[in-house]
Amino acid sequence: MSSPKTLNIGLIGGGGGAFFAHPHQKAIHFDGTRRVVAAALRSNPEAAIEDASNWTYPIIGYASYDEMIDAQKEIPETERLDYVVVVTPNHAHFAPSLKAIEAGIPVFCEKPLTLNLAEAEQLVTAVAKAKVPFAVAHTYLGHWSSRLARHIVQSGLIGDVRWVDSAYIQGWLAGKTEEAGVQQAEWRVDPKKTGASNCGGDIGTHALMQLRYVTGLEISKLSARLESLVAGRVLDDHFTTYCELSNGAKALVRASQIAIGHKNDLSIEVNGSLGTLIWRQEEPEAVRILLPGQPDRVYWRGDVVGNDGFLNELPEALLAEPTLPSGHGEAFHDALGRLHRDFETDVRAYNAGQTFDCDGSKYANVEDGRIGLAFIDAAVRSSAADGAWTELAGE
Ligand SMILES: NC(=O)c1ccc[n+]([C@@H]2O[C@H](COP(=O)([O-])OP(=O)(O)OC[C@H]3O[C@@H](n4cnc5c(N)ncnc54)[C@H](O)[C@@H]3O)[C@@H](O)[C@H]2O)c1
Repeated sequence: MSSPKTLNIGLIGGGGGAFFAHPHQKAIHFDGTRRVVAAALRSNPEAAIEDASNWTYPIIGYASYDEMIDAQKEIPETERLDYVVVVTPNHAHFAPSLKAIEAGIPVFCEKPLTLNLAEAEQLVTAVAKAKVPFAVAHTYLGHWSSRLARHIVQSGLIGDVRWVDSAYIQGWLAGKTEEAGVQQAEWRVDPKKTGASNCGGDIGTHALMQLRYVTGLEISKLSARLESLVAGRVLDDHFTTYCELSNGAKALVRASQIAIGHKNDLSIEVNGSLGTLIWRQEEPEAVRILLPGQPDRVYWRGDVVGNDGFLNELPEALLAEPTLPSGHGEAFHDALGRLHRDFETDVRAYNAGQTFDCDGSKYANVEDGRIGLAFIDAAVRSSAADGAWTELAGE
């Protein structure tokens, strides 16, 4: 039996001292079924070519994403890109994504989807027209434990959702990191490159996505405070929203970059009418369940069976996901790898002219990305109106 063709991936962003292109390229190569073959690594054309020639394995370097995408129609079909990964600062997500979509090339784009809501809406329209697979890189949905948490809450095993606290707490911007030559901080505090909210857009959107993914609930309206707790910043480094959910329950969706000692502390707690679920990304293999009058339960990835007195029958797809045995730790790269693996399935179906899901159950889609921008837009408006209750546009 011949193996299926390895998917060809093009990176947009990743040169210089880039951060997140590197987890992506590791996650792309996780299964041996996808590989990075080309890249437009920087906005400066000469530097883009130079960095590609120094990449740690051979890739075709392009001077710009325009050149890389335009080149596709000129090269043999088997060598063409099967999808592109957009891993540039936020202001450079929209244009390459739109260009790839219009060329019929699937896109795996970083979050927040775009600089503003209007751009996000345009991408939703473009994806609907071109019918291409589109993923937004909400990494934490790729933890097996996030998927178990989603199954538990959405099966009603902890009862009706009454309250959610979804928080993404970091401390790396507690000082003037942006004045210490850290490029990741420099563009994040610049409204032209990051959008109308720094902390909310950068990590508040992850907290929002975790809430929506685990509970299946939407935000109906919110009251927000965007604060700059380090003097001299234009944009928020501390972001708090009090939200009403689509089932009438309430939630906090919050984020901070000034909480010294917190590293990458994303967590969600869901209080239901029968029990509580707790998940923390810094302990990404475990889901905790607290039930009245019972010892706490901890479900570890790889060691979970259904019908145990609390869990119901677990879906085959959840049990069958390729994982390491229990105790052989999975972490951040595995989560991102799982998203690329699931996206690959949809890209292969697209390439074969078959229907594909792209329904948000395995990775965030373009509509999830739009909701992230609608959330930020509402939070910015609410905060400017002294925390007034504000509805999300388009809901
Ligand atoms: N999903 C996650 O968990 C996660 C984690 C970290 C960062 N991110 C996101 O990834 C994106 C990149 O963040 P980062 O921290 O890696 O930033 P970075 O500054 O480290 O890297 C940005 C890269 O984009 C390149 N670039 C800029 N403009 C370009 C253009 N027009 N064409 C080609 N390349 C261009 C830069 O040269 C650099 O290589 C951001 O949107 C960020 O929000 C997501």
